[in-house]
Amino acid sequence: MQVIHTVSELRQRLSTEASVAFVPTMGNLHAGHLDLVRIARQHASCVVVSIFVNPLQFGANEDFGKYPRTLQADCDKLAATGEVIVFAPGEADMYPQPQQITVEPPPIAQELCGAFRPGHFRGVATVVLKLFNMVQPQVAVFGKKDYQQLHVVRQMTAQLNLALEIVGAETLRAADGLALSSRNQYLSAAERTEAVFLYQTLTNMRKSLQNGPQDYAKLEHDAVVALSARGWQVDYVAIRAQSSLAVPVPGERELVVLAAARLGATRLIDNLEVCL
Ligand code: PAF
Repeated sequence: MQVIHTVSELRQRLSTEASVAFVPTMGNLHAGHLDLVRIARQHASCVVVSIFVNPLQFGANEDFGKYPRTLQADCDKLAATGEVIVFAPGEADMYPQPQQITVEPPPIAQELCGAFRPGHFRGVATVVLKLFNMVQPQVAVFGKKDYQQLHVVRQMTAQLNLALEIVGAETLRAADGLALSSRNQYLSAAERTEAVFLYQTLTNMRKSLQNGPQDYAKLEHDAVVALSARGWQVDYVAIRAQSSLAVPVPGERELVVLAAARLGATRLIDNLEVCL
């Protein structure tokens, strides 16, 4: 395993590689990330994992400062999976000058998580485009856990004619169903026990949707009430079309149920695809 910190060194190292698959991360890796690496290996002989906590995608009151930086532990976990190049740029390498040119994501990025994290997807799209330009992969793998992020990245790739394939990977879950996330470690023991209720709420909604025609607004409302009654602060629960993330038109059969809610100080997100 090789750890590279600068763009020039990365370009030099990758210049002889025939094909590169890329997994962008913010580090603090868990089994979900390692699964993205496993999938990346199926697409290219050389796998690059970036580790960079991107200030551009955090709001002023968010957890940028306390986001766990665990480079050595991350490298150990990656080394155990096989050959991989870790690209861990410093902030000065990523943003040598103030980033005045940014990627404006599509309007859907103002909804769902975007409505509660203004500017978040602009920050994500901008750093992902910069990373794509630095790594120049043929394939990049993103988790479906961040469903709206995956959608924005797919749209950016298509609309800016980027020459790479975006692969969406299924969410890895703990035994009780909680989606794996770096932020799960912020949860207290009691919160961790409660956290699975978000997944159960989505699972119940999926069952209802599969039972026949439903009033989507009522399903969403009932889910918000159920979560709130247990002490969650709900940002949203939404039933959307998989392909566009828009409110589904009548007859839409490929749906996704998405939710974001806070347990204490920790904001969790999750989603489930539903095909009718
Ligand atoms: O999903 C993440 O970890 C981040 O949003 C990403 C894609 C690495 C960009 O900073």
